[in-house]
Amino acid sequence: MSALAKNYNRRKIAFKKGKGSFLYSTNGKKYLDFVQGIAVNSLGHSNPYLINSMYKQAKKIWHVSNAFIIPEGEMLAKRLTKKTFADSVIFQNSGAEAIEASIKVARRYFYSIGQIKKNRILCIKNSFHGRTIAAINASGSKKMQEGFGPKIDGFDHFKFGDHKSLKKAINSKTAAIMVETVMGEGGIKVIPDWCLRELRKICNKKKILLILDEVQCGIGRTGKFFAFEHAKVKPDIVPIAKGIGGGFPLGAVLMTKKVASGMIPGTHGTTNGGNPLAMSVGNAVLDQIFKKGFIKNVQKTSKYFHNELNKIKINYPKLIKEVRGMGLLIGLQLFNDPTKFIKKLQDNKLLTIRSGENTIRILPPLNVKKSEIDIAIKIIKKVCEEF
Ligand SMILES: Cc1ncc(COP(=O)(O)O)c(C=O)c1O
Repeated sequence: MSALAKNYNRRKIAFKKGKGSFLYSTNGKKYLDFVQGIAVNSLGHSNPYLINSMYKQAKKIWHVSNAFIIPEGEMLAKRLTKKTFADSVIFQNSGAEAIEASIKVARRYFYSIGQIKKNRILCIKNSFHGRTIAAINASGSKKMQEGFGPKIDGFDHFKFGDHKSLKKAINSKTAAIMVETVMGEGGIKVIPDWCLRELRKICNKKKILLILDEVQCGIGRTGKFFAFEHAKVKPDIVPIAKGIGGGFPLGAVLMTKKVASGMIPGTHGTTNGGNPLAMSVGNAVLDQIFKKGFIKNVQKTSKYFHNELNKIKINYPKLIKEVRGMGLLIGLQLFNDPTKFIKKLQDNKLLTIRSGENTIRILPPLNVKKSEIDIAIKIIKKVCEEF
């Protein structure tokens, strides 16, 4: 009998080791892991470079406190700002914390310029921003909020794709619009480039901030460092997590100089966030992702993967509705509930995970090999045939 609480619906499978794209179960089976900790292990399992970097750091210093200067964090922040829209970074431990901090940054900015009443955050109904109290209220999902009342104020919602309701929902108290650039839990729904550009325009016109949640789709996953780069828009605030830690708990908020100006000493903090060990892993992940050709390769392998999946879709038009997503954030949308399909994939040694709207999420590591994609394609074809 497990002493763990029952808040997860766990599959009856455990692993003893992982290597690259593969996981090895405690009962001796080898699986192609296209879950990768839900888009976390950007460089696969047991990446030798990450292990070495972490080991080196672990021997020097793990944790001090944000009461002191942390050179590894200074370096990671410099590298993130040099490569992106951002001027400033606050490190966290997880995605939900990065969301919380993003909301605080937006509110604090307006507070700092004397617009105290401008504090509401406008989000997509039934989006996903994590599981803390603020995040479930931001998500606007009744299911996630059930039993966790009282509902907290400060969030408004509009329907995905409904531009009229979005414009109507903005009022004098709106501080920011916060959306996932690609809705990871909600069915791998991509916000089209023109919509993102429109969002930017609306924010400029209304003098409000644009927060793009890149917790799942950021750090190279879509074939650009950030998914919003495809649309050539510049947000004001970007929460990140998952891929930047490569499996080590790490989150961050990236922001412009303008909005960062409200975050004066004492306004936000975390004990563990940004510690030397986490920062050294983050730097090691960037060493790999910023390597010449790394992200180009994500574009190449993902294009191949999407093409192959679309070929399968053509052969099974009554089973597969759509191949969704961008880069290696892939959604295979079925016409019906995908639970059995996912189980059959697993029985054939391919691990995937469900998302909303009958969609199966396929999340290989960013350094996945073409030969590994071929294995996955073969298994998916087999399961389609048997279905
Ligand atoms: C888009 C998005 N935002 C926020 C979160 C929350 O991240 P975490 O689970 O690290 O708290 C997630 C997690 O899946 C996510 O996909």
